[in-house]
Amino acid sequence: MSKNVVILGTQWGDEGKGKLVDLLCEQAAAVVRYQGGHNAGHTLIINGEKTVLRLMPSGILHDGVQCFIGNGVVLSPDAFLQEMSELENRGVPVAQRLRISSACSVLLPYHILVDQAREKARGNNKIGTTGRGIGPCYEDKVARRGIRMMDFFHLDQLSEKLKALADYHNFQLKNYFQQEELSFEIVFEKLKTQIEKIRPLIVDVTARLSALKQAKKNILFEGAQGTLLDIDLGTYPFVTSSNTTAGAVSTGTGFGPRYIDAVLGVTKAYVTRVGSGPFPTELHDETGKLIAERGKEFGSVTGRPRRCGWFDAVLMRRAVVVNSLSSLVLTKLDVLDTLSEIKICNAYRYRGEILRDLPMDLCDLEACEPIYESMPGWQSSTFGVTTLENMPPLAKNYISHLEKLCGVPVDIISTGPDRDHTIILKHPFT
Ligand code: GDP
Ligand code: IMO
Ligand code: MG
Repeated sequence: MSKNVVILGTQWGDEGKGKLVDLLCEQAAAVVRYQGGHNAGHTLIINGEKTVLRLMPSGILHDGVQCFIGNGVVLSPDAFLQEMSELENRGVPVAQRLRISSACSVLLPYHILVDQAREKARGNNKIGTTGRGIGPCYEDKVARRGIRMMDFFHLDQLSEKLKALADYHNFQLKNYFQQEELSFEIVFEKLKTQIEKIRPLIVDVTARLSALKQAKKNILFEGAQGTLLDIDLGTYPFVTSSNTTAGAVSTGTGFGPRYIDAVLGVTKAYVTRVGSGPFPTELHDETGKLIAERGKEFGSVTGRPRRCGWFDAVLMRRAVVVNSLSSLVLTKLDVLDTLSEIKICNAYRYRGEILRDLPMDLCDLEACEPIYESMPGWQSSTFGVTTLENMPPLAKNYISHLEKLCGVPVDIISTGPDRDHTIILKHPFT
């Protein structure tokens, strides 16, 4: 029986989604991105060779897997064509494997300038965005003035729409941020040449997915960012500008919610976060440094150091609910190998009260103090382990305890960055 499976992040991103999508798509006919843009950085390591994908779905290295970019994604032609040429130079036939939704939003240089100007103006209150123009592009979409892929087929209308957009953003850049304007002519001339390369890839993704479903093919949906970066359900305002949670699969592709069979939540064995915002279990000590070092916790795209902390079951229980998670994929267990004690947060202390659920007002999260349970570390190597039998008993204890606290089973355990460093207890497609 065919299955449609979602893989998404349950924390603040960088949980290891890319590795899992690359691994599991061996059994899928298609891999689909449904939100975000080139703010994502998804790392695949195959036989030691590293590939970092930003806009491309993580199935792109597989022959026979059709990749799609859905309408919920914001696509920068500059970033897309650069990534495409990097991959094609390595022999990956992107033009053959990838198709883009005609309803996908176009991210323009204006969005990047506004994103960066706004962050600068916010000073200490900055969000810590990736500076890729993601927020301003989604704003234009919601304001109904954005440009979409389908506009690439009507150059006259495109020119008019782009001119209006350029005027709007230039007014803001000049008068509000006191920055130089960016000429419409320069942007349009460049875009016209880019359009020629992108146009052949534009299709009705919704119809293609529906056809795959009719043909009883497996489809894998790849989330970017993570649950807590969701614009509605995350730690607002320190979030990204799209819905990153499971509902976005349907709105970002046109694949209806009842067609989805399973939602797998990828979670690190600890927590990381890049950018600003509350993080109750953040570690500012030597253990935090050790985790960052062993986990190589630096952004895959921006190179920024990631903040590290203990596993937070309160946040995870929220991720389980909002995504209707079927199971978990636990990654980076090996990073904890040397620790003698491992802590897990299972509740918060907030103004004398004990909270087991995430407070709705996320400003309150700043004031929440984690209440920890302590577990003994296994202090032996789990790196690259591929069977549960070879897992140290204390590591197995840790995993079972997380399952109990989160209320969902761990179906896959990742024990290293390589595709092969994985224990699959239950394959989502079989
Ligand atoms: P994504 O954005 O969710 O796809 O994750 P990133 O690629 O940004 O970050 C995950 C990082 O952890 C990458 O450098 C991966 O190569 C690495 N990684 C993934 N799984 C494991 C694991 O189980 N152990 C270790 N040590 N590294 C891992
Ligand atoms: P992947 O897909 C981690 C964070 C930024 C910032 C906030 C808003 O690799 O997990 P944006 O540029 O989106 O407006 O920034 O969101 N952020 C990510 N953090 N992983 C990502 O993607 C992220 N994409 C955005 O650091 O805090
Ligand atoms: Mg990443």
